[in-house]
Amino acid sequence: MTATAVRPAFTTLRLDIDGDVAIVTIDDPNAPVNTLNRAVIEDFTRVFELLEGETAVRAAVLISGKPDIFIAGADIEQFLELKDAKDAEALSRHGQELVGRLETLRVPVVAAINGACLGGGLESALACAYRIAADSPKTVLGLPEVQLGLIPGAGGTQRLPRTVGLTAALDMILTGKNVRAKKALQIGLVDEMVHPAILRDVAVKRAREIADGTRARSEGHKGGAIGARALEGTPPGRAIVFHQARQRTKEKTNGQYPAPLAAIDAIETGYHKGMEAGLAEEARLFGELSQTEVSRQLIFLFFATTGLKKDTGVSDPAVKALPVRKIAVLGAGFMGAGITTVAVQAGTVVRLKDADTTRVANGLRAVREVLKESLTKRRTTRQQFDDQLVLVSGTTDYSGFRDADLVIEAVFEDITVKHQVIRETEKVMGENAIFASNTSTIPIARLAQASARPDRLIGMHFFSPVHKMPLLEVIVHEGTAPEVIATVVAYGKKLGKTVIVVNDGPGFFANRILTPYINEAGKLLDEGAKIEQIDRALVEFGFPVGPITLVDEVGIDVAGKAGNIIADAFGERMRPSVSLAHVLSSGRFGRKNRKGFYKYDENGKKQGVDASVYELIPGAVARRDYTADEIRERTVMAMLNEAARALEDGIIRSPRDGDIGAVFGIGFPPFRGGPFRYMDTLGIGEVVRRLEALNARFPGRYEPAPILTRMAAAGERFHPAD
Ligand code: NAI
Repeated sequence: MTATAVRPAFTTLRLDIDGDVAIVTIDDPNAPVNTLNRAVIEDFTRVFELLEGETAVRAAVLISGKPDIFIAGADIEQFLELKDAKDAEALSRHGQELVGRLETLRVPVVAAINGACLGGGLESALACAYRIAADSPKTVLGLPEVQLGLIPGAGGTQRLPRTVGLTAALDMILTGKNVRAKKALQIGLVDEMVHPAILRDVAVKRAREIADGTRARSEGHKGGAIGARALEGTPPGRAIVFHQARQRTKEKTNGQYPAPLAAIDAIETGYHKGMEAGLAEEARLFGELSQTEVSRQLIFLFFATTGLKKDTGVSDPAVKALPVRKIAVLGAGFMGAGITTVAVQAGTVVRLKDADTTRVANGLRAVREVLKESLTKRRTTRQQFDDQLVLVSGTTDYSGFRDADLVIEAVFEDITVKHQVIRETEKVMGENAIFASNTSTIPIARLAQASARPDRLIGMHFFSPVHKMPLLEVIVHEGTAPEVIATVVAYGKKLGKTVIVVNDGPGFFANRILTPYINEAGKLLDEGAKIEQIDRALVEFGFPVGPITLVDEVGIDVAGKAGNIIADAFGERMRPSVSLAHVLSSGRFGRKNRKGFYKYDENGKKQGVDASVYELIPGAVARRDYTADEIRERTVMAMLNEAARALEDGIIRSPRDGDIGAVFGIGFPPFRGGPFRYMDTLGIGEVVRRLEALNARFPGRYEPAPILTRMAAAGERFHPAD
């Protein structure tokens, strides 16, 4: 193909003319990904003007010069500069106009989509005459705005339903989830799927065909289930769909996230009053949502996570991570199998060791099951599944350990056992290899006592289930070498985890702040509160499950053991409840033996509260009602206070890390931004006042962390104001 480059004056894109087809290649040289930032928008505007005037050009192709990104969406930095709702509404209007011009351009535009096509990127593609997706796992399309507490603001709420139908559009917009190329083709979001190698050529060809009139513009909405199409095809049917969507959204969000409901309103307006009215409503709601606390907190989390991605874990930029090509995992139990799974998914060779062949086989089976699930859900191809499986091998001895770059132990939570495996492994490990422990409670410095080279020893605390939970706490003890920290942080990111580096101490960060919260829930039970009331109050606060359900999930035995270790270290304010100990000694372990605070059916599915638990609680206190406020005040304030103490003790490096650790590790409500952001919202003075009031009622449990008292007196906050 011959193409001549013309007008090199653009900064973020290239314009090539191939005969009568203009090829617009977006490739922002100043950013690793293409976003719709100011410079890109300016270039787009100029290119549109140019194409209007260039009569020799009869069609255009929009394509990206980045290998994995078409357009990743709006430039979120820009959102921070918005002063008020009007300002945000104007930004949305501007985006709508730009996208609208793409739709009404004199020449048909074909979007050639390779890589992430998200938010404003997809909204632009939706305004094109035809869409082609490259058949690659990197190609994902979606409108993730609700994940930032917003709605699509450049016409997405109007064009997506018109393209894929109401049901499929609601599914994408209300969850913010992506679809892959194949699914996009099925639902009519793209018109064609081709091999990445021919994407550009096919796009040029289609552009020309559309200009010639030998191919129609995209009609969209060819796919979707017939039932859904029939239902949404009539006004009464659509009324049902909207009603159901609102109901489901309210149930799912507990009324805490306004964006999905606003998106439904904007979509419905478009159906009732037409595109213009729909766009106006979309922009108005975008403006309104941009000013909500929820959106501000979700955007903070977005930037905090992005910041962590760039964080090497060490302050010295000269320290480089070592390559990790092969790892060995000790213990093929629940966690060992989980760690192995994510490692092979990241392409690492894994040697998995346990005490006997049956356990190794069970571990390998567990790995296979999760990989299989990915295959069934089409997140991976058969080829990838096969490739991943051959990366793992099992053993009952230390063969195959010598060339491992990293050994991760996940044996029993018992210091004697852990000391023994450290001694044994160090004898067979390579000289530079790193030993990481997945202990959930034992200080790394204590493990290091058994090590002949403590500088190569570190903690990697994964959360269960490993393949689903996004957080990894990397725990550094005094002697850990910076190179070891950098290596483990880089490897954690390769596993897809959000990594925070924490200092050594009982419970590290996440479990430390979880403990007083769980204890307090238990103490409410000791006093006569009802299990379901406690759980409901905290789910309403925004936790994914309540504390009693969480204990059942984690295992009452595991929670009990961890609670005791942390209580031994910190004393009175961490003293466990008596309820938990008594329920545990009755042989209830929670969901795993289908006997806990709740009842479980034979498949382990949670049923109602098991009222017989109340009889196990000493004193057989009569159950009485507690207000949700009282439950929340006691449990949440205990967690906030402990988070402040952990910061003061230097366990976490910054409030940002603490917020990320709490949100991604233990499900602190994301829309509150994390414990430190939440304390800022309440005001530190208010936090201290409330802690003091609680401490007067429960002496010794709520003494405000000294850092809080100091900050309150100085009028300080943890994060700068937005
Ligand atoms: P598990 O009991 O499921 O697995 C432990 C495995 O280690 C067993 O298969 C056992 O046979 C094996 N093992 C024991 N001694 C061994 C040795 N010398 N060599 C090789 N294998 C040996 O326990 P789980 O839940 O997987 O926990 C493992 C570690 O992960 C513990 O330190 C635990 O505290 C930690 N952890 C657990 C979490 C959880 O939610 N279960 C969360 C985070 C950390």
